[in-house]
Amino acid sequence: MTNDVGATLEELKRKRKFPNAFYNPITLFGLGLSLLSLALISFLLVLDYFSATSKPYVGVIAFILLPLVFIAGGLTSFWGAWRYHRHLAKKGIVVYHLPRVDLNDPRHLRATLFSLAAVLAVGGTAAFTSYQAYEYTESDEFCGTTCHSVMNPEFTAYQFSPHARVGCVECHIGSGADYFVKSKLSGSYQVYAVAFNKYPRPIPTPIQNLRPAQETCEQCHWPKNFFSEKLHKNSYFLSDEKNTRWDLDLLMKIGGGNIEVGPTSGIHWHMNIANVVTYGTVDSSRQTIAWVKSRDSAGVERIYRNTDQPLSAEDSSKVMVRKMDCLDCHNRPSHAYHPPAMSVNTAMTYGWIDPSLPYVKSVAVDALDRGYTTNTVAMDSIRVLLSDYYEEKYPDIARRDRGKIERTIQEVQKIYSRNYFPEMKVEWRKFPDNIGHLFYPGCFRCHDGKHVDAEGKSLSRECNVCHTILAQQFQDDKLRLSLGGVEYRHPVDIGDAWKEMNCNDCHNSR
Ligand code: HEC
Ligand code: HEC
Ligand code: HEC
Ligand code: HEC
Ligand code: HEC
Ligand code: HEC
Repeated sequence: MTNDVGATLEELKRKRKFPNAFYNPITLFGLGLSLLSLALISFLLVLDYFSATSKPYVGVIAFILLPLVFIAGGLTSFWGAWRYHRHLAKKGIVVYHLPRVDLNDPRHLRATLFSLAAVLAVGGTAAFTSYQAYEYTESDEFCGTTCHSVMNPEFTAYQFSPHARVGCVECHIGSGADYFVKSKLSGSYQVYAVAFNKYPRPIPTPIQNLRPAQETCEQCHWPKNFFSEKLHKNSYFLSDEKNTRWDLDLLMKIGGGNIEVGPTSGIHWHMNIANVVTYGTVDSSRQTIAWVKSRDSAGVERIYRNTDQPLSAEDSSKVMVRKMDCLDCHNRPSHAYHPPAMSVNTAMTYGWIDPSLPYVKSVAVDALDRGYTTNTVAMDSIRVLLSDYYEEKYPDIARRDRGKIERTIQEVQKIYSRNYFPEMKVEWRKFPDNIGHLFYPGCFRCHDGKHVDAEGKSLSRECNVCHTILAQQFQDDKLRLSLGGVEYRHPVDIGDAWKEMNCNDCHNSR
């Protein structure tokens, strides 16, 4: 008997170290592919080990792409061997149907040992790399930087949030196999969307299928144990020449109860296990609330309906009902994009922007909120706007206080880079934060005094229900202070408008 090359089977038997079926181009190609990817994986691992900073793409290549190539190579080589074996069988060169193993034959022994080693290597590599791939795709580095420009806004805000040390997956996936699989499935779609530039800008919020807060937030923050009041000492600066300072101390009634005393009142009242709050909305961003229903521990139900914008008959069928959880208030626990007035107030409070520069509050806020097209344009424009302003309007100050102005410019640029991402069309107005009520509807989505129940009782918007206004003081005025709460005075005279309108009706426009 002769084979394709003309040598006899006996001759081959003597020369070849492995069964004949292995000697075909497809198998050799497959083996080559596997060996090459194995070598590359080792090389990248060594490289990663010795480099000081880890590069996001190395992980994708070393733990996801190359192992796939490695496995594909292995499968190809076995498929090649099987095909070739069939080919030889058809030609009558081999007579048996399946490979015959005779461990007394050194050639067979060698092939068996080699196959075992290959299975171990493939299995080992697969186990190691899939574990690495698992760890890697769960890392903040993967979530935050691999799709750099896409996640840049969320990642940047996250790094400046109280949760900077909490992994993305703790909130976005949580524990358990079902959400793991779900997230990897939707993740694969996201990889596709990024690769083919098919994702929306900005990424829409709220996330419709985010995991329920009970399974994420409440794993760390125990709703049975909220029991404190928290003091906020806020300072504001008006947009006048003197940047008039206005101080306000608020004591937030966080409440909710603790494990020893049981449920109490306060803001976390909504979250007491005994109380259930559900609401209906036709607005996918959940900012306009049509009705809200509370059921207390005694089972008494109350429904408060929006009298300002009553549901039309047509909309009634479209209402989405949701049970209130942490995320209905804490919807930006780690990706808050701050309004410019807020960031500039903070910077001025700590003196990073010097309040002695005339009109600096107003100029800085204006320079931030001009809707630039790219970050580079913004950086240049902020510099030009601020330095031109002082050179034209206050040439003396521009000369004397060069340093103060330069520091202001840098601070404003820093605020911009943390809060505005023109490439992803991300800015504060598009991502309402539901805590509070100054810049966004927030608590006043329900507590606006216009959600009324059947008996005519409305959800309170009385200023000392959620917080006690402990103290208020204008720059040159005397301190007004009371532990029972002082009457609120709006910093500029707007009559009774602040009692009737929602604060964000005016404060969201700037
Ligand atoms: C403390 C919990 C928490 C952590 C940690 C966290 N997120 Fe989020 N993330 C949220 C919540 C809550 C939302 C908004 C959900 C909503 O409103 O439906 C969100 C929204 C998002 C969105 C949707 C767009 C948007 O801004 O609303 C993206 C993208 C995102 N997060 C990415 C990340 C990345 C990347 C990381 C890690 C670098 C991360 N998140 C870490 C809680 C978290
Ligand atoms: C893995 C644990 C973990 C998870 C999950 C988690 N947090 Fe936190 N949270 C923390 C830590 C740690 C802090 C910072 C505490 C500190 O420094 O005092 C924090 C702080 C906070 C604060 C206080 C912020 C402030 O300004 O002081 C709030 C509010 C909060 N988390 C809400 C949430 C919400 C809502 C979720 C779910 C979307 C969530 N957390 C998920 C660990 C977690
Ligand atoms: C009705 C809205 C609302 C709901 C629902 C809500 N919170 Fe809060 N939470 C607040 C407010 C308001 C504060 C005070 C914020 C501040 O001081 O800036 C707060 C404060 C906190 C703090 C900080 C407490 C401290 O002592 O500093 C944590 C942690 C927190 N909430 C976690 C949660 C978790 C977890 C849930 C879900 C079980 C939840 N909250 C549900 C409104 C809410
Ligand atoms: C979806 C609607 C809704 C939103 C949004 C909402 N609340 Fe409420 N809140 C309610 C309902 C309903 C009640 C219960 C009223 C009742 O039946 O007594 C309530 C009651 C309260 C109470 C009184 C609890 C007590 O001691 O009796 C406080 C305080 C409170 N809310 C604070 C807040 C704060 C702070 C926010 C914003 C962070 C907020 N709420 C956002 C619906 C809402
Ligand atoms: C339903 C609860 C609730 C009611 C009613 C309420 N507030 Fe507030 N308010 C809050 C919460 C929550 C915050 C905290 C926001 C934060 O943590 O940044 C806040 C913050 C504030 C701030 C500081 C805003 C900032 O971001 O610097 C002022 C000023 C204020 N409230 C004034 C008032 C006045 C005036 C009234 C009465 C018309 C009132 N509040 C009624 C819940 C409430
Ligand atoms: C009719 C419009 C209007 C309404 C409604 C309104 N404000 Fe104002 N508010 C203003 C104006 C105008 C200023 C002055 C802005 C400036 O000088 O930069 C101001 C300034 C402020 C400031 C300090 C300025 C800053 O941005 O640092 C705070 C705090 C404030 N208002 C709180 C509230 C609260 C809380 C409510 C709701 C209870 C409210 N305002 C409702 C118009 C309004």
